[in-house]
Amino acid sequence: MKDILVLGIESSCDETSVAVVKNGREVLSNIIDTQIKIHEKFGGVVPEIASRNHIEAISRVTQLALEKANIELKDIDVIAPTYGPGLVGALLVGVSYGRGLAYALNKPLVGVNHLEGHISANYITHKDLEPPFLCMLTSGGNTQIVHVKDYCQMEVIGKTRDDAIGEAFDKVARVIGLSYPGGPKIDKLAQQGEATIIFPKTHFENLDFSFSGIKTAVINLVHKNPDINKADLCMSFEKAVTEVLIENITKAIEQTQIKKVVLAGGVSANTHIREEFKKLEKQLDLKVYEPDLKLCTDNAAMIGSAGYYRYINGNISENTLNAVPNLKIGE
Ligand code: KG4
Repeated sequence: MKDILVLGIESSCDETSVAVVKNGREVLSNIIDTQIKIHEKFGGVVPEIASRNHIEAISRVTQLALEKANIELKDIDVIAPTYGPGLVGALLVGVSYGRGLAYALNKPLVGVNHLEGHISANYITHKDLEPPFLCMLTSGGNTQIVHVKDYCQMEVIGKTRDDAIGEAFDKVARVIGLSYPGGPKIDKLAQQGEATIIFPKTHFENLDFSFSGIKTAVINLVHKNPDINKADLCMSFEKAVTEVLIENITKAIEQTQIKKVVLAGGVSANTHIREEFKKLEKQLDLKVYEPDLKLCTDNAAMIGSAGYYRYINGNISENTLNAVPNLKIGE
């Protein structure tokens, strides 16, 4: 069968990224132009500034991705931009650019769901991984358990009722004076601390999550005790949120009898979470897959992989494709 080269385009938040991916699994290039430094001083992503920076970066990043892959635009078979979920103005940059390329080159356009992209990062890291499996998707905007039945067939079986876990990491970081994005900084600090504090956790009958109670308890504690040991606080916070993830994935495994578990999303880079899932792998005799650290946060290689599977399943988009800021998995 002829190789299929997908041009993945990612601009849903504060990373402008373009990648060339061969047959869904092999990354020929993955250029990521991050705006973190620009948004850091505002303590979070400013949507309008993100959009403007995507516009300035996208042609240059595409050119670099093609050069690194040692190919020309005419060699690309499929154009695959992220069309949601994310910031509408930011998404529109990648979608419009992708539409323009597809039209000019007369190539198929395949809109990709950013969350499916995070899951697909694992297909690049683990060449043997195939559905069905359960995915613990933990990112800045989402926390979900996804039953991945097939490459393009998935169902959300549990989700957060309030904050996403990454949002909780970033807010806790902010209250103790760590800059945006706070997750990696909490991760580092926690490694020097002990879990000395127990935070209250909310439990639900079903597979839903809540992180706002833990987050508020941390913030109140810091306000009452400004001199608190921050490393211990970070470790205690990480322990509490990880216990919530472990409790729910254990229930999901019991309910579905699926013993293959895949981590995905920015927060799946977290050291403590990875360690605890590896312990669970042994305890419950599971197979746990973790994405390469470089592919946990936003990047276009994962979008190129998801785009490939959408394409071979016949999911071609119209050239009127629009950004869908609140796109759900399975849509
Ligand atoms: O997946 P992602 O890049 O963006 C979304 O699609 O939402 O995730 C970004 C989130 C941020 O909240 C960031 O603080 C968090 O991932 N994050 C981490 C770590 N690395 C990134 N959280 C905890 N530990 C980490 N090592």
